Amino acid sequence: MSNWSELKIESPVSLSEVVSAGLWEVGCAGITEGNPTDKWQSLTASFEDLSAEGRALVEQTAREIFQRADAPAPTMHWREVPNENWKETHRRFYPPQPLSAKFYLVPAWQAGELEVPAGFLPIVMEPGRAFGTGLHQSTRLALWLMEEYLAERPGLGVIDVGTGSGILALAAKKLGETKVEGTDNDPEAIEVAIENAELNQTPDIRFSVDTLETFPEASFGMVVANILLRTHLELMAGYRRVLKPGGVLILSGLLVDQRQVLEPELQKMGFARNKSKIIDEWESVSYLLIK
Ligand SMILES: C[S@@+](CC[C@H](N)C(=O)[O-])C[C@H]1O[C@@H](n2cnc3c(N)ncnc32)[C@H](O)[C@@H]1O
Repeated sequence: MSNWSELKIESPVSLSEVVSAGLWEVGCAGITEGNPTDKWQSLTASFEDLSAEGRALVEQTAREIFQRADAPAPTMHWREVPNENWKETHRRFYPPQPLSAKFYLVPAWQAGELEVPAGFLPIVMEPGRAFGTGLHQSTRLALWLMEEYLAERPGLGVIDVGTGSGILALAAKKLGETKVEGTDNDPEAIEVAIENAELNQTPDIRFSVDTLETFPEASFGMVVANILLRTHLELMAGYRRVLKPGGVLILSGLLVDQRQVLEPELQKMGFARNKSKIIDEWESVSYLLIK
């Protein structure tokens, strides 16, 4: 059984988006935003099985955000959520909802019961064990770009690098792709992705911990990766390697000012920027491999 803890933090209204983003980055499972007053807003972030080091990291992240904004140190209160309530807490943060123009989130405990609104495809998810609940802006942005490209250019063949829960790979499959793979350097994520593929009745996706160097060159028409900037920088040559000429690279997980760090390197490798989408402070960018 999981142990849940909640952090309540009072944030200046002007900072609450950035504080939320920081809390998502350090692994919170959900955030409830209190009604803002003139200047302040309370944020309650829920964490599953947080170690003492994890808790220290969360607090440090919040303090650094406040410091960078020249705001006074934040007030933070932790609360252990009694075990008998953990399931409810877990579910409160994960209601059914649209994730993108085409996908609708169905929590695993409502699979088979919930009627998905007309025009949407269901994605069934059990949140918790791997990153990729669908609720993070960076996942939504990646879904959005994937949907647009696969509608215009179906049959590209997709690899989802840093697949986590497998959500982007599942989505590619549901959009009609026949060749779909997902990789992650965390073996537990791969187990979860395989379980999620079963839940979604999309079993013929290959999930593995294989690194990009082990794939044949030019084997996919689309690479999608929702990872942190520093990992994109490490993996960039691998993206280039497995992508077919003319293929699409979708990079998500970037904060809006981070594209400029990546882009010159990508241009040197023959990529040209094609589209960009932004929600709040998160950006997803797509590039075409032109040479
Ligand atoms: C932000 S999560 C994205 C999950 C999911 N694709 C989504 O869009 O919601 C990033 C994932 O990348 C994985 N990851 C981090 N570094 C990696 C690397 N060098 N190679 C492969 N996967 C990596 C992490 O284990 C994590 O599951």
